[in-house]
Amino acid sequence: MVAILGYSREQIFTAVRDMYGAVARAPDDHFHFPVGRAAAEAIGYPAEQLDQLPATSLEAFAGVGHPFSAEAMQAGDTVLDIGAGAGNDALIAAGLVGDTGHVIALDLTRAMTRRIRQAVEEGGHHNVSVIEASAERLPLADGSVDCITSNGALNLVPDKRRAVAEMFRVLRPGGRLQIADVVIRRPVTVDCSEDPRLWVECVVGATVDEDLLAMFRDAGFEDIRIIRSVDYFAHSPSAQTREIAASFGAHSMELAMARGEHAPGLVRHWARRLNPVRGVRSLWRRGIIGAASLGLALLTCYGTMAALGLLAAMGAGVGLHEGAWAAAIALFAVLSVVAIAPGMRYHRNPGPVAVGAAGALVVCYALFVDYSLIVELTGFVILAVGVTWDIHHRRRTQARILGVQGAT
Ligand SMILES: C[S@@+](CC[C@H](N)C(=O)[O-])C[C@H]1O[C@@H](n2cnc3c(N)ncnc32)[C@H](O)[C@@H]1O
Repeated sequence: MVAILGYSREQIFTAVRDMYGAVARAPDDHFHFPVGRAAAEAIGYPAEQLDQLPATSLEAFAGVGHPFSAEAMQAGDTVLDIGAGAGNDALIAAGLVGDTGHVIALDLTRAMTRRIRQAVEEGGHHNVSVIEASAERLPLADGSVDCITSNGALNLVPDKRRAVAEMFRVLRPGGRLQIADVVIRRPVTVDCSEDPRLWVECVVGATVDEDLLAMFRDAGFEDIRIIRSVDYFAHSPSAQTREIAASFGAHSMELAMARGEHAPGLVRHWARRLNPVRGVRSLWRRGIIGAASLGLALLTCYGTMAALGLLAAMGAGVGLHEGAWAAAIALFAVLSVVAIAPGMRYHRNPGPVAVGAAGALVVCYALFVDYSLIVELTGFVILAVGVTWDIHHRRRTQARILGVQGAT
C-alpha cells in the first residue's frame, strides 16, 4: 500500500466529493486530468460506443482507461459500476446486458449521481439504477452481482483492501471483474497531509502495480490478466501533473479477472501477505533496503556477539567460523551501499553513495585487515550517515516534485 502519512478518511472523502462534484457541475472548467469525449477517445473508447452516450454523461467523463476491452459482460448480467461518475460506463453496460440484465451505477459524489439519474431519465433506461454509496461499504447482498466494472475509482478509495473485499463479497462465485485504474511504480513516501488535493489528483492515492495485483489475488480473485497499460497522464493538460506522474511511474492499467469459489483461508492469506520476497521488493521500492541491509549487518555483527556472550555465560560455548561471520557482515554492509546507489537517479547527488562506500570500506578494513572495535564502529556510523542522507534526499526530491516542500 502507498504510505500516505496523515490523511484522515474524512479528509479524503471531502476532497473527492469536492473535486468530482466540481467535474459534475462544470465539466468544461480547467482540471488537471482530461475530461469529456476527447478524454475518452484518447484512452481508447471507440467512436461508435461514444456516439451512443448522452451529452449529460459524456461531457463529464473522467475515466482512466477502457475497461470494456476485457469483454467481461454478457446479456442478462447484473452489473455493478463502482465509482460510476457521470454514468458513461454504466450506460454502455446497460446496452451490453440488454433488457434482461440490470446495471447498478454507484458513486460517492452526489453531483455525479444526479448526473447519472438525469441521463437515465432522459434516455428512458429501465435497466439502470443509481446508488450514492462508498466502494468500501457496498449496500448489496452477497453474491448478487455477475460482473463489476470500475474506471478510475479505486485509486481514490482510502481502504483499498476493504473495497476489494467488498467486490469479492457482492460478486457471485465465477463472477467477473473488469477494471481500469491508476497505478504507480514507486510509492509516495513523503507526508502530504497538508494537501489532500494531491490525493484526488490520482497519483498520491494510487497503489504500486504489483501490490494492486497482489491485493486482488489475496482477496480470492483468479485468472488475473493485464489487458493493457495506458500512458494516461500524457494527456493531462497540467505540466506539473505530467511531471509528478513521470516521477512515480504513474499510468493506468486495464485488468480482467474472475472471482474464485472461496476467499483464501486465513493461513494462506497471511502466508501470501508475509511472503519475504514481497517484503524485500516493497523495501526496495520505498528506497529503504539500504537501511534494512545496514540493520542486518549490525544484527549479524553485534547480535551474534551478544548471543555468543550470553550462551557462554550460561555455560554453553558455541564455536563460530570467524571468517564466515566477517564475510556475512561485510556482505550486508556492501549490499547497503549497492542499495542506496540507485538513489542517485532521483536526487542526482553522489554524496550518499560515496559516504556509504567509505563506511563499508572502513568496516571491511576492521574485519579483514586490522580489527579494532572503534574502527569497526566508526565504519558503521559513516555507513549510517550515507544511508540516512540518501533517504533524506529521496524524500526531499519527492516532496519538491509533489510541491509539498518541507514535508519530509
Ligand atoms: C476518476 S472518476 C471516474 C468516473 C467514471 N468512472 C468515469 O469513467 O467517468 C472517479 C469517480 O469515483 C468516485 N469515487 C471516489 N471514491 C469513491 C468511493 N470511495 N466510493 C465510490 N465512489 C468513489 C468519484 O466520485 C468519481 O466520480
